[in-house]
Amino acid sequence: MSLRMATSRIAPRMMFRRSMATTVESSKGPLAGGTEAISASRPVLSPKETSTVKEPQKDQDSKIKTFHVYRWNPDAPSDKPRMQSYTLDLNKTGPMMLDALIRIKNELDPTLTFRRSCREGICGSCAMNIDGVNTLACLCRIPTDTKAESRIYPLPHTYVVKDLVPDLTQFYKQYKSIKPFLQRETAPEDGREYRQSPAERRKLDGLYECILCACCSTSCPSYWWNSEEYLGPAILLQSYRWIADSRDERTATRQDALNNSMSLYRCHTILNCSRTCPKGLNPALAIAELKKSMAFT
Ligand code: SF4
Ligand code: SF4
Ligand code: FES
Repeated sequence: MSLRMATSRIAPRMMFRRSMATTVESSKGPLAGGTEAISASRPVLSPKETSTVKEPQKDQDSKIKTFHVYRWNPDAPSDKPRMQSYTLDLNKTGPMMLDALIRIKNELDPTLTFRRSCREGICGSCAMNIDGVNTLACLCRIPTDTKAESRIYPLPHTYVVKDLVPDLTQFYKQYKSIKPFLQRETAPEDGREYRQSPAERRKLDGLYECILCACCSTSCPSYWWNSEEYLGPAILLQSYRWIADSRDERTATRQDALNNSMSLYRCHTILNCSRTCPKGLNPALAIAELKKSMAFT
């Protein structure tokens, strides 16, 4: 399958512009109409080749907001990615960005593609870049200022499967590589459960809550440049989650696997990861603890 590479809007000074970010005009979608509309964006083609953006008819109370959404279709691989604009009445839309995307898909343009499942910040599948920040669409409130237009892209520096769907094959391959499950030979003392003291259990707080949304890894400059070898903040946080687990008996093996120049030590403490995590976790701290645990063993 042909995939497009997306680049970041998070740290403009440190990144490439999103590849193929040119936008082309396109005609109104089949379901557009009424006070809300799908319209084309950014006229980069000559004016006679473009359609006219049709303003929605506003009623007195409507709160019309514009959303610019990244579009790329693998079935037309020679067509450049483009931004497409949609206008919605916020009075008829739920409060979150995912509500807006679902309304666009259901009522304006069924061709728009994105992932979602739980709509409550648990599954991690709606991760995307909204107004320059990697976040979960279902936890991201729509700014109510209707003059401020919103821009929605797939996670940066990922290959794009279609529209807002990033290809996370490498991310999950790396997750699998750390063996994210309890490894031990010794049977439990009572023959039933592997017990932990409250203090041992507390060491997993801030780690077990990670939903593997990839917001942090795809905001990390070190991961952008070395994603084949550097594991990135999400996978390193998960790795530390098992190293910190008092029940696991493979700590040394896990640490050995990280003890090379690329897997762990490409983290340069830039901290984009901790700033962006939509679950409020601190992957940079987990990486620091991981390095500390390696230094003192
Ligand atoms: S640490 Fe946060 S941003 Fe990173 S994968 Fe886990 S939940 Fe997502
Ligand atoms: S602290 Fe490390 S993992 Fe986090 S963004 Fe910076 S380099 Fe990446
Ligand atoms: S839909 Fe599950 S985290 Fe957003």
